[in-house]
Amino acid sequence: MTEARAPGKVILFGEHAVVYGHPAIAVPVTEVQARAWVEPGEAGLGVVIAAPDLGRRLLLRDAAENDPLAAIVRLTLEACKAERDQDLTITVTSTVPIARGMGSGAAVSTAIVRALAQHLDHWLSSRSISELAYQAEILYHGTPSGIDNTVVAFGKPVWFIKDEGWEIFWLGKPLLLAIADTGVESSTKEVVGDLRQRYQSEPVRYDPLFQQIGEIVVTARSAIEQGHGDLLGQLMDDNHALLQELGVSCSELDRLVGAAREAGALGAKMSGAGWGGNMIAVVTEETRGRVDLMLRLAGATRVILTEVR
Ligand code: PMV
Repeated sequence: MTEARAPGKVILFGEHAVVYGHPAIAVPVTEVQARAWVEPGEAGLGVVIAAPDLGRRLLLRDAAENDPLAAIVRLTLEACKAERDQDLTITVTSTVPIARGMGSGAAVSTAIVRALAQHLDHWLSSRSISELAYQAEILYHGTPSGIDNTVVAFGKPVWFIKDEGWEIFWLGKPLLLAIADTGVESSTKEVVGDLRQRYQSEPVRYDPLFQQIGEIVVTARSAIEQGHGDLLGQLMDDNHALLQELGVSCSELDRLVGAAREAGALGAKMSGAGWGGNMIAVVTEETRGRVDLMLRLAGATRVILTEVR
């Protein structure tokens, strides 16, 4: 049996503005993971994909072309120059929450590519893995920016500019984050679409907000590289205020952001598309326990404490 894992992710800075050409920063979250493993399968069935968390079990030969699980397996077999019709069972499980902006689709795809390539004794670079996962992201999301598959496949902080490129960069100091879930599901497509409509009817109002977010992201990268936690916290607060002005936050997110700050976090903001999903806060060894508690008391349905390195 071969087995592989892939982490989740959060966007630290720059969501929404990234859609309009400004940079964004995302980091891996290893506390949540997808795990895939490959075993010899039942004779004659061909490739079987089992996703017990999703209540799914499918035969590759019968699966629709646009099924993301089947697609990532077909793409990987092709990339490894392997036969499509071998008897294999691929099982995938995941603790990355779905539809919370934590990259669950990219994590599942990446874990499958890694486990299958390993089983086939074929080495694939992180770049190739990311490119394959991107193809499946298109099936999950329609027009993915590519940030999820990059950060998940490389497992490193990523600086990302849509249609321009990305870079992995290094942290001056490990970064302690609290990630709290509002428990409210939100659709990235819906929030991005709504903002696009508002932007199109009033570009002079929204352009300067995107511009200001872009400037924050540039400063945030240096703050991360130099390990300036206080500055980073301030930048998160500023980025959150601009996201509120963009109309993508919501009362549940604002309540958690306020609770984290009151509990002593260096700064906090919503993360991802908004109107629900997760928020993040920069914490220290001293404040992490209190921030965790206060977030739960303020209604968080789940709090993850992670150290990004
Ligand atoms: O919630 P997530 O992690 O899917 O992030 C959405 C980020 C947006 O900037 C709002 C959209 C995008 O495609 O980058």
